[in-house]
Amino acid sequence: MIDRTLVDEIVARTDMQTLVGGYVKLKRAGANLNGLCPFHSEKTPSFTVFPSDGSFYCFGCGVGGNAITFVRKIENLEFTEAVAMLARRAGINIPQTALVSGGPTYDKNRFYEMNKKAARFFHNALFADTPDAKAALAYWIEKRGLSMATVKHFGLGYAPNDFSFVNYMKSEGYRDEELSVAFLCGKSEKGYLYPSFRNRVIIPVMDLSGHVIAFNGRVMDGGEPKYKNSSDTPVFRKGNTLFALNFAHKHCAERIILCEGAMDVIAIHAAGFPYAVATLGTAIRPEHARLLSRYTKKVILSYDSDAAGQKATDKALALLEDVGLEVRILRLTGAKDPDEYIRNFGAEAFRSLLDDSHTKFDFNFERVLQRYNLDVPQQKIEAIDALCTVIAGVYSSVEREIYIAEGARRLGVDAKNLAADVQKKIALRRKEEKSDTAKVAREILGGYGDRVNPDFVKAPRAARLEEAVLGLLQLYPEYRTRTFAQEPLLTEEDFVTELGRRVFCFLRDTANAGEEFDSAMLDSVFSPDEVGRISGMRVGRMRLSDNGEAVFLECVKELKAAKASEEAKKAPVTFATLDALLKGKREE
Ligand code: UTP
Ligand code: MN
Repeated sequence: MIDRTLVDEIVARTDMQTLVGGYVKLKRAGANLNGLCPFHSEKTPSFTVFPSDGSFYCFGCGVGGNAITFVRKIENLEFTEAVAMLARRAGINIPQTALVSGGPTYDKNRFYEMNKKAARFFHNALFADTPDAKAALAYWIEKRGLSMATVKHFGLGYAPNDFSFVNYMKSEGYRDEELSVAFLCGKSEKGYLYPSFRNRVIIPVMDLSGHVIAFNGRVMDGGEPKYKNSSDTPVFRKGNTLFALNFAHKHCAERIILCEGAMDVIAIHAAGFPYAVATLGTAIRPEHARLLSRYTKKVILSYDSDAAGQKATDKALALLEDVGLEVRILRLTGAKDPDEYIRNFGAEAFRSLLDDSHTKFDFNFERVLQRYNLDVPQQKIEAIDALCTVIAGVYSSVEREIYIAEGARRLGVDAKNLAADVQKKIALRRKEEKSDTAKVAREILGGYGDRVNPDFVKAPRAARLEEAVLGLLQLYPEYRTRTFAQEPLLTEEDFVTELGRRVFCFLRDTANAGEEFDSAMLDSVFSPDEVGRISGMRVGRMRLSDNGEAVFLECVKELKAAKASEEAKKAPVTFATLDALLKGKREE
């Protein structure tokens, strides 16, 4: 376990505004800061940072906590990893031994070294004096049209169709278990080790510092599966890795090209555009979008021209715009993907495609035009309706105006009428959004689909009181002192949900150990989602103007009564004061 005072120091030395500001564009709103939530998709900011106590909370999706929770969620890290990352940012040294938490831990440097040896083995195997090796090299050079320089630059290789890889890695001193965890080998039912990649050409994947972290292996014929990719390992998470970012990051400040496959990236780099990257055998995720937003201003989407690629383009557009990136779309005609395009038409043709990339509006407008025959009146009406939906989805009114003029011109209709139709769509959408928000709120309050606190729904009234009490206890030391005094006001028996009970015990045990409650310590015990919920209890009370002692004592009393009535399995009682207590007076 990491020493608590060390965690406190690390959190205290972390400026939340700078930390969160690295991922989210924040605007000042009174004492706090607001922005678009990085954890769910939204158009109006409900994500709030409270610099006063270094916490954050999203009123839209309920994610919240402190600097550690934020880093755990956004970088997908374990508690100790998150603490280590914040320590590095703050320039605080922590002893390596402090970072050992439960479960097996692996020495990342040993894995980097192991992967490097594997990558060298695969690369050297291309140049062996065997017919198989010659065929593999011919695949890269002749079949894929790559130069020797490109093969070397990307460290491309070949995994032979035998057990030489296993023997080599074992001779280098790696144990069976390490080789399996690194996804380099698998274990058969009979217990012998076999290489994960056999008779495949190999593309190594590197992280930003150039460590080899994973491999993709492709068949050289029509075999299945076409690609075999490393699963996640202690040094690799495919959800937040972009292929070739180690090369691209020096050239991508202005724009980056995002592709579906590593082979596309290799072809684009080889053609003289060293700023292409790809997700690895997976669709784009929010983590990828955030990663991209740290390195570039504009993403040029270069997905496959088939239907699946177009669908993926839609998804990528939404995720990339959510993080504030400008997005352009390449239209590949006469080729399935960028790799094929460059082979068919050459690097200069690809350059013109880049210069002529399309905006989201063009992309959607083209699709509308393709789908309908404008010479048929009924279809033209449908096309206009579809176009209005597209334009209504554009956030900026200036942009909308431009698109309305452009759309009216191309469809041959009156711009004023088109504008009126767009307005109607916008009004409709607002209404839907409002009822969506209300629905989510109702679900949370009703406890339906409550994954974080599944007990909530069993006794919602008592559970709401519980949350009020726990919120007040977090906020006010004097209530903690009173509650955990020699004759405690409350015991864990008074709680109806398991989560509530655990939070109560955590607060009590901290107090009994003579320590101050500090939200940063929640992360060592609770999951990030739970920390969000617990923050919600605190933030919920912070927004109310009356948190006085009378309110606190009343909440405690009502909670005990509610619990008692639950126990007696009576029908739920209605408490006259309950709603007033829970709602409080809203501070404006
Ligand atoms: P494609 O089938 O479009 O392959 O799959 P590609 O990128 O054009 O590759 P080449 O040119 O045939 O060599 C797109 C991406 O989907 C993933 C890979 O990341 C691939 O680049 N994929 C595809 C797999 O992970 N496994 C598969 O079996 C197939
Ligand atoms: Mn391809």
